[in-house]
Amino acid sequence: MSVTVRVPAKVNVQLAVGAPRPDGFHDLANVFLAVGLYDEVTVTPADGLRITCSGPDAAQVPLDATNLAARAAIALAERHGIAPDVHIHIAKDIPVAGGMAGGSADGAAALLACDALWSTGAGRDELLAICAQLGSDVPFSLVGGAALGTGRGERLTPVDVGGTFHWVFAVADGGLSTPAVYGEFDRLTAGTDVPEPEASPVLLAALRAGDTTALAEALSNDLQQAALSLRPSLADTLAAGTAAGALAALVSGSGPTTAFLVADEESARKVAEALLTSGTCRNARTAVSPAPGATVQRP
Ligand code: C5P
Repeated sequence: MSVTVRVPAKVNVQLAVGAPRPDGFHDLANVFLAVGLYDEVTVTPADGLRITCSGPDAAQVPLDATNLAARAAIALAERHGIAPDVHIHIAKDIPVAGGMAGGSADGAAALLACDALWSTGAGRDELLAICAQLGSDVPFSLVGGAALGTGRGERLTPVDVGGTFHWVFAVADGGLSTPAVYGEFDRLTAGTDVPEPEASPVLLAALRAGDTTALAEALSNDLQQAALSLRPSLADTLAAGTAAGALAALVSGSGPTTAFLVADEESARKVAEALLTSGTCRNARTAVSPAPGATVQRP
């Protein structure tokens, strides 16, 4: 018997970052939006824990205990006195380069899949607590839709979305380390008064109204300058998408993936094509939002 869970990628439509906390993390006002690019994680009973991965970026996915999917299986098994003897297969379609929470998505999906396979009876709150231990973005991958993340991003409040938004994502060559980007944010803001992060009421209203033009004006990412400082070539990618007709362009999360909000499906196709031919990215993908969170697939 196997269990398969489908799980979406995310984009941060607002990422407000505060000063570093004593534990090294940063308080955030992080407005997550799940987008319709999905990984599928299948767990099957096996002699021991092992991970395999398929898909165009599979070679870049770690198949050892550092993979969040493995850590999720181990964390759940430990809590319920079960041996984590499963084969976890990740069918990867979420870009691996970073900024779309692909690793976090696989952690949330493996957790939900193992929970169904082992019938642990864990409630939603227990699963969310395990997700929060695994990483700041993992709880959102479980719930999907749209949500405001506070604390280090793990404390979620649902956000209403009143329409469909169209996106293009430009996948960069190579990754960017999340701690390095936060470190660069600290360096760039050193000696300044970093305000408490707060969700933007204008942005939340744009999401609620399903208003693409208003959302385009309200998008913001406090990590963008830091990501650009570490990877100046991302400015060329942002400019290429804007020149091709995107309504707004921003770095997704800590990057290096860049996100382009566009008016409709046709514009998405045009912007993706222009990004691909610009030579400023490795790949360009179109997607719509919002998307549902991690979901067990029924055969
Ligand atoms: O929680 P996660 O493991 O995804 O975080 C990765 C790294 O990103 C942390 O070690 C930290 O350097 C940085 N981070 C942060 N503040 C947050 C979330 C992440 O400084 N709210």
